[in-house]
Amino acid sequence: MNTILVTGGAGFIGSNFILYMLDNTDGTTLVNLDKLTYAGNLANLRAAEQNPRHVFVQGDICDAALLAQLFGQYQFDAVVNFAAESHVDRSIENPGIFAQTNVQGTLALLAAARAAWEGPDGAYKPGAKFLQVSTDEVYGSLGPAGYFTEQTPLAPRSPYSASKAAADLFVAAWADTYGMPVNITRCSNNYGPYQFPEKLIPLMIHNACNNIELPVYGDGLNVRDWLYVEDHCRAIHLVLQGGRPGEVYNIGGHNERTNIDIVKTVIRLVGEMANPAASDALIRYVTDRKGHDRRYAIDPAKIDAELSWHPAVSFDEGIVRTVRWYLDNAEWLQSVTSGAYREYYNKMYNNR
Ligand code: NAD
Ligand code: DAU
Repeated sequence: MNTILVTGGAGFIGSNFILYMLDNTDGTTLVNLDKLTYAGNLANLRAAEQNPRHVFVQGDICDAALLAQLFGQYQFDAVVNFAAESHVDRSIENPGIFAQTNVQGTLALLAAARAAWEGPDGAYKPGAKFLQVSTDEVYGSLGPAGYFTEQTPLAPRSPYSASKAAADLFVAAWADTYGMPVNITRCSNNYGPYQFPEKLIPLMIHNACNNIELPVYGDGLNVRDWLYVEDHCRAIHLVLQGGRPGEVYNIGGHNERTNIDIVKTVIRLVGEMANPAASDALIRYVTDRKGHDRRYAIDPAKIDAELSWHPAVSFDEGIVRTVRWYLDNAEWLQSVTSGAYREYYNKMYNNR
């Protein structure tokens, strides 16, 4: 029996993680602290609504009083910090909220965890762990060759990745200075169910289904390293259980693709499965993202060697599953693009 504070559990990866943990553990309770920003959607968690092992709390990770109350009430054994502003384009327009949530919020969580877990002798609650969910973007941008390893120096380039790198440094400082048992995971681009349709793959699925132009930044040859979200969730669970204290683990599945390749694959699948009118003629090359990182690619050798993790879902399988999921869940997509999902949680949590 253990209790985990999962922050950002109504977002894309956080909600997949909660559903994964409910399915793959018996005695674990997940307390889901989420502010429900534009990216938080309780409809992602309908399958968990009746499950007593999932407790939802609407709140901000920057709220120290709320964190102290929750640590006192639930006596957490671990924290998995997903909560973040996650979209690079938004960080270019409005960096301040990224510093607030991603840096200050992580600091508030670290302080609350230390206050709850550190004894007078400096020893920590047995088995306690703070797991920071980070990103490969903290390593910066690669040229045509090479991979990010855990030893790659941090060189973030966007306001988003700068805020995530800053948070990572604070987490590492809590381990070095206060002896807190921490892990940092750095994952490549995720895709799969419940991803907000501002991100490349769900946006392209939505547009291809609806005969809307598909905007490709720059020359379309930037490379991302794609990982099916369930494989990421399993990796986090393994790091929680067996990650060595203080260690960083890179997570990725050697699935490098150019953006234009992804876009053409989505068009082909949507054309075959749903909308025969979807064609490459919908592609529009548009002004490039400012400071657009050219290439990300993860070397996952460490997590493979230490925790026997490797991806179970190939890109070819994962992308078919993902397109199928969005087609089968057209109502979910429609409620997000129309904004109706806000009414769902207002009804559930604010108006009673
Ligand atoms: P997301 O934007 O889909 O979800 C973020 C969640 O955090 C939302 O539910 C939102 O309501 C919540 N949140 C935001 N600010 C909050 C605050 N102040 N207090 C409490 N909750 C708050 O993000 P995602 O894509 O699921 O990413 C989750 C984590 O994984 C992030 O930390 C991100 O940096 C990291 N990550 C994402 C990817 C990816 O490809 N999506 C890859 C590697 C790492
Ligand atoms: O690498 C991990 C990161 O992946 C996470 O840390 C971030 O939270 C997550 O948002 C993601 O960042 P990216 O910037 O790589 O993802 P995004 O889906 O925004 O873009 C993927 C690529 O597609 C990128 O090169 C920009 C490009 N793109 C994106 C959009 C939205 C387009 O060409 N057109 C678009 O409309």
